[in-house]
Amino acid sequence: MNMKLRPRRLRLSENVRAMVRETQLTVKDFVYPLFVVPGSNVREEIPSMPDCYHLSIDQAVELAKKIAALGIPAVEIFGLPEYKDEIGSSAWDMSSPVQRAIAAIKKAVPELIIVGDVCLCQYTSHGHCGCLVDHYVDNDRTLELLSKVAVSQAEAGADIVAPSDMMDGRIAAIRAALDAHNLINVSIMSYAVKYASGFYGPFRDAADSAPQFGDRKQYQMDPANIREALKEVALDLDEGADIIMVKPAMAYLDVVTRVRAQINRPVAVYNVSGEYAMVKAAAKNGWIDEHRIVMETLTCMKRAGADIIITYHALDAARWLDD
Ligand code: PBG
Repeated sequence: MNMKLRPRRLRLSENVRAMVRETQLTVKDFVYPLFVVPGSNVREEIPSMPDCYHLSIDQAVELAKKIAALGIPAVEIFGLPEYKDEIGSSAWDMSSPVQRAIAAIKKAVPELIIVGDVCLCQYTSHGHCGCLVDHYVDNDRTLELLSKVAVSQAEAGADIVAPSDMMDGRIAAIRAALDAHNLINVSIMSYAVKYASGFYGPFRDAADSAPQFGDRKQYQMDPANIREALKEVALDLDEGADIIMVKPAMAYLDVVTRVRAQINRPVAVYNVSGEYAMVKAAAKNGWIDEHRIVMETLTCMKRAGADIIITYHALDAARWLDD
């Protein structure tokens, strides 16, 4: 028995554990997603996402102030539009809730980094992430539309645009469109590695964005693949993505680790709605300790290699980090 090294020595007290801790979760790691809706004075809880709300712009601004006061550096804005059509034109309408919320939050809390989610599924009548030719999402025509969405959000005041559609070539198209509008300092956070996942279920209720027919498997990735993830990352780096995202998070941390090891740009993970809903449901039933599970999960995302964590738990986690 070799007892020269006893690993338990370095676990004896909270202070010694803190001294040798390899990963520090901080409030600066978080991005908090917001869902903005038309109207005023609206604050309605999303049934499948307890403690998350549909907010009108005035309410979103109030929450943004609290988010900034907690030290969280960034929000990501999603929206429900006033109208939907075949091509999703409310996605680049400057009077849509997302664009107005971006402008209002930027004005009220200028230091808070605003990420705009660039996609069409919340805005198209059919719920797909691009424009259709029969039942096929036309990649190259969709690029023009996504570019308009990105430019509109950047012009409203977004610091970062985050395309989540999974069309080929969209990073290059969006970069070119931003630069052509002299929006050279707006960053692109690419949902480069986005799997066709069952974990988005609650979000699709929240954002009213479920496809009316079929699924997203012709554009989002097969959960079985990791070499393909590296291919997507390489393409998006080449096209000019500033930050690379892997989504979902919990079941995909091996992908996060591989991507982190391979590239020299920041890596984000999206701790998605289904992951959140499972934790909330189990906690509500008294089956798990929510505080412990959330802090453990977020710490492990960072340990796996994430530099940025987009999470609906951000408000609670920020308070718990402060305790
Ligand atoms: C839009 C989009 C989705 C999510 C973020 N952006 C849904 C989807 O692709 O169907 C999911 C976020 C979550 O589940 O929390 N394309």
